[in-house]
Amino acid sequence: MASKAFLITIFVAMVAVPSMATQHIVGEDAGWKVGVNYTLWATGKKFYVEDTLMFMYPQGSQSVLKVDGPTFQKCVATNTSGVLTSGKDVITLAKPGKKWYISTVEDHCSKGVKLVITVSEAPAPTPTPLPPQELGSSGTSEISPFKSFVLIVAAVAVFKMIFS
Ligand SMILES: *[C@@H]1O[C@H](CO)[C@@H](O)[C@H](O)[C@H]1NC(C)=O
Ligand SMILES: *[C@@H]1O[C@H](CO)[C@@H](O)[C@H](O)[C@H]1NC(C)=O
Repeated sequence: MASKAFLITIFVAMVAVPSMATQHIVGEDAGWKVGVNYTLWATGKKFYVEDTLMFMYPQGSQSVLKVDGPTFQKCVATNTSGVLTSGKDVITLAKPGKKWYISTVEDHCSKGVKLVITVSEAPAPTPTPLPPQELGSSGTSEISPFKSFVLIVAAVAVFKMIFS
């Protein structure tokens, strides 16, 4: 008979497994450049705290600067401290709220190289044990291998408890 402590340990492990952060490649394959509508790109996407934005561009062709709302509207940054120029800039979304990013290269911001997103609090991890027959299905890509492992261990423990 499986001990209660063992089952409690499994339950705690399931609750504690954090949901995976998402890395959003801004513009997908197009990257960060003139000619892409980043409003369109962001439409329908969910951004959560701990997710990352990745801005990809040939070095020197663009930059990434986090700005405030008014600067985003005007496309003129008076304070460029913190500007990113690596061509592969990764920004971790640390806090919820509205975030604005622009390119400071030439007039590219007014040509559309600007992105506004709204970041939500990270969703609470939801431990939803699946029926055992669904565990092996390869289509459930949202379940991390570790989570699947924990679920399998939990299922085995429950079976042991029932049949011993
Ligand atoms: C970008 O897409 C949004 C949403 O479809 C649209 O409202 C906006 O006019 C577009 N901007 C440009 C510059 O085409
Ligand atoms: C410029 O921006 C940086 C980073 O956002 C900020 O820490 C600094 O206080 C700003 N400087 C001025 C003069 O506003």
